[in-house]
Amino acid sequence: MLDITNLRKVFPKEAGEMVAIDDFSLAVQNGEFVCLLGPSGCGKTTVLRIIAGLETLTSGTIQLDGRDVVNSGPDRGMVFQEFALFPWRTVRKNVEFGLEIKGVSAAERKTIGQKYIDLVGLNGFEEYLPKKLSGGMKQRVGIARALANNPEILLMDEPFGALDAQTRNQMQKELLRIWSETKKTVVFVTHSVDEAVYLADRVVVLTARPSRIKEIFKIEQPRPRDRANPEFIALRKQILAELEEESAQAPKLV
Ligand SMILES: Nc1ncnc2c1ncn2[C@@H]1O[C@H](COP(=O)(O)OP(=O)(O)O)[C@@H](O)[C@H]1O
Ligand SMILES: [Mg+2]
Repeated sequence: MLDITNLRKVFPKEAGEMVAIDDFSLAVQNGEFVCLLGPSGCGKTTVLRIIAGLETLTSGTIQLDGRDVVNSGPDRGMVFQEFALFPWRTVRKNVEFGLEIKGVSAAERKTIGQKYIDLVGLNGFEEYLPKKLSGGMKQRVGIARALANNPEILLMDEPFGALDAQTRNQMQKELLRIWSETKKTVVFVTHSVDEAVYLADRVVVLTARPSRIKEIFKIEQPRPRDRANPEFIALRKQILAELEEESAQAPKLV
């Protein structure tokens, strides 16, 4: 279980400080799919980066299965919005990256890497460089790379934000398939209500800065979900209203 208690994050500013996250507590069960939904600039990426150990917290605690999370580690895998692939490495070499860092032998790397390349549907593209891949395929590499470390939790920061609508819907389906095959815990950040309602077991709506939890919606519709279903539409409307209340208060972005 991922347990976040009273998380607070303050960034120093030229004049004083800026509270990005305040009083943020959330428990995520093993195998659960949670979406964090909030207005732009509210602190979603910061929450994820703190869980990943890429950013320090000011106060509060984060525990994964009872252990304090302090640094980054292979128990948490991150998938970034901007793909963040190594352009000079092939698909295979990108996927094997974490295993290389861990000192896994070449033969074992290849076996493990191939398993995840197959899982994300990139069989046949192993020797391609990222520039030859479409956006959806790049993000498949990002997912395979994160999974190759066998993390307990997959942290995903608007991973499909740069994709066209059709590819995005397809990738959402693919992600649910991968999730059900791997049984990973997923914390997925998005600002799309539709995406959150389609994917999540629970949708956590965040307030405008500082990021607090405004409301949590449990989505009980069976998967695969039907976007045309009246219940789906009603939920989307309800959550959108919550989010719009916050977006109206969100500070203007610079
Ligand atoms: N390293 C940093 N130093 C100072 N301010 C930061 C830093 N990272 C993020 N912020 C600020 O924290 C706020 C939340 O940012 P972010 O977590 O990226 O929001 P979101 O992902 O919800 O759009 C923003 O105002 C951003 O400018
Ligand atoms: Mg962000």
